[in-house]
Amino acid sequence: MSLFNVYPLFDVNLVKAHDVFVYDENKTKYLDLYGGHAVMSIGHTHPTYVKNVSKQLKNIGFYSNSIQNPLQQELVAKIQKLSGCDTYSLFLCNSGAEANENALKLASFHTKKKKVIAFKNSFHGRTSAAVAATDNPKIVAPINGQQEVDFFELGDLKGVEASLKENDTCAIIIECIQGVGGLDESTIEFYQGLEKLAKQYEVLLIADEIQSGFGRTGDFFAFQKHQIQPDIISMAKGMGNGFPVGGILIHNKIEASFGLLGTTFGGNHLACAASLAVLEVLEQEKLLQNANKMCSYFLEKSKSVSKLKKVKGRGLMLGLEFDFPIKELRKALIFKHHIFTGSAKNPNLLRILPPLTIQASHIDMLFDALNKEL
Ligand SMILES: Cc1ncc(COP(=O)(O)O)c(C=O)c1O
Repeated sequence: MSLFNVYPLFDVNLVKAHDVFVYDENKTKYLDLYGGHAVMSIGHTHPTYVKNVSKQLKNIGFYSNSIQNPLQQELVAKIQKLSGCDTYSLFLCNSGAEANENALKLASFHTKKKKVIAFKNSFHGRTSAAVAATDNPKIVAPINGQQEVDFFELGDLKGVEASLKENDTCAIIIECIQGVGGLDESTIEFYQGLEKLAKQYEVLLIADEIQSGFGRTGDFFAFQKHQIQPDIISMAKGMGNGFPVGGILIHNKIEASFGLLGTTFGGNHLACAASLAVLEVLEQEKLLQNANKMCSYFLEKSKSVSKLKKVKGRGLMLGLEFDFPIKELRKALIFKHHIFTGSAKNPNLLRILPPLTIQASHIDMLFDALNKEL
């Protein structure tokens, strides 16, 4: 038997990790500015995380959603405290795609409609409704084609309104800052206009915060910069710092009923312990403030790089856009300079998604390497 060959792999075998560094089997140390695809929020093997998850594992790791689990209540309270989102309830699941799938399904239940509005260059995951709302025909199978989705350019309020007038839409789903698509973000007027249209036409506004949430942009959620209030907020990645956990925050105007949504593994004891540890560290170590501080430092340092076209993103969801494909540069960063970075749909964009614990000296390491390579 072999592995189903769907991932192009770098020839690196990581066996150990600490904070912003990962180590391979030959003890080579790499700086992790990719965070395993924006997943590492509080840093690898953070002591609080290891302690709390280990302790939970020794007590009880899992039971189904048929019994009381006070850790879930604790998680609700802590997310509410740190995000300031206090008119929502929480449904827990296991991944980003699953969070969006539940968000879209809930929007359809609530409005009794089925069309979705999404945006060009979006990525919402690979399950049925989520992949149909993803702007990448290569990963949409014929079985997902039955889903009705209208795609618009980010910023195209007129197009969105024309589509809403047909009165068959259940949801507008949007990444306020696009992740995989390449860190594009529209204006405050656009996001507020979208919120207004959603209300006017009685469709649900879903903010996909899978990648941008849990402090990555320097705000708890990226949409908060635009002062909007989505009806559903989907979360995953940084929520568990590597433990598979996802969830949706659901506005209180949407009613729950037994059996409406469900999952075997979602919200299990270990997942809750992992996410609670993340929130504790985000708060204690003031990591949102650090994300903003390190962003300013990054922007300053980026001025030293020749051939740089643009810096994109905010907080620690950043990208360096060049006027050439970055594929070879990314490889040189890994194999010559031992620095992991990310790529995007835009072939010229190098993505920087480090743990939120990163310090100025680590950013210096990236810019020293870039200046040597370019
Ligand atoms: C914005 C966004 N939504 C959804 C997903 C899907 O998450 P998952 O891979 O956990 O299913 C991703 C993953 O990269 C993402 O970046």
